[in-house]
Amino acid sequence: MVPNKQPEIVVAPDLPTLVETAVKRIAARVAKADSTVAICLTGGSTPKPIYQRLATKPYRSELPWHRIHWFWGDERFVPPEDERSNAGMARAAFLDRLRIPHANIHPMPTSAPNAHEAALQYEIELKHFYGADRLDPERPLFDLVLLGLGSDGHTASLFPGGPALSEEHRWVVGIEQAGLAPFVPRVSLTFPALAATREMMFLVSGQDKRGVVERVLSGQDLPAARAHAIGHLVWLMDRGAAPEAYPVSSGEI
Ligand code: 6PG
Repeated sequence: MVPNKQPEIVVAPDLPTLVETAVKRIAARVAKADSTVAICLTGGSTPKPIYQRLATKPYRSELPWHRIHWFWGDERFVPPEDERSNAGMARAAFLDRLRIPHANIHPMPTSAPNAHEAALQYEIELKHFYGADRLDPERPLFDLVLLGLGSDGHTASLFPGGPALSEEHRWVVGIEQAGLAPFVPRVSLTFPALAATREMMFLVSGQDKRGVVERVLSGQDLPAARAHAIGHLVWLMDRGAAPEAYPVSSGEI
């Protein structure tokens, strides 16, 4: 499998349609997998209604929850009960509302002494799940990676100008400092680990994101522009976030 150069651009007329489209595509990706499925979740506010929708009909009864393993692309280095916790948000939105085996949920270990140590531990967990220490371009780690887009062009917790952007060997790194204020340390998968997926889906909503989407899709060297997948790359946006040049997608999206 070679890196997919041109992303698929999908523009939903509004947020509710973006949510329906996202859950349909998540279910479709799960249906394509014949055994264990690995999904890497994003944090932030945009995915919350999508996660909540996964816990409702028909998905709550139709998805093979026992076969799906849930990982995170990044985390704020805070306890899971903290309101800034990405794992905490996803648990409240859907994971704790469904009968999912405890062993299928893989939160980042924010009880570690520091973000760097948490990254080392999570890398070991990912390699254990994958069954090897080196990523094989023919055997993706994930079936689906969900990503968001920050107003500064960051994705996961890979921030502009950060050393993590050029990490080629580590799968997970600790981020002690970045431009955002107030900043809590982060733990983030690196681009090579995020790329090891059958499908990478950016989820972007709202007019306030249109400017940065334009910069990323026009190839400006922002972190999100560096994200690629060994499989399929799709940008799923609503009308507010998608630059005018991209019309609302027609037909079944
Ligand atoms: C995080 C995310 C981050 C997020 C963007 C967009 O932990 O904050 O993983 O990369 O996706 O900051 O966040 P919003 O969806 O809230 O705009």
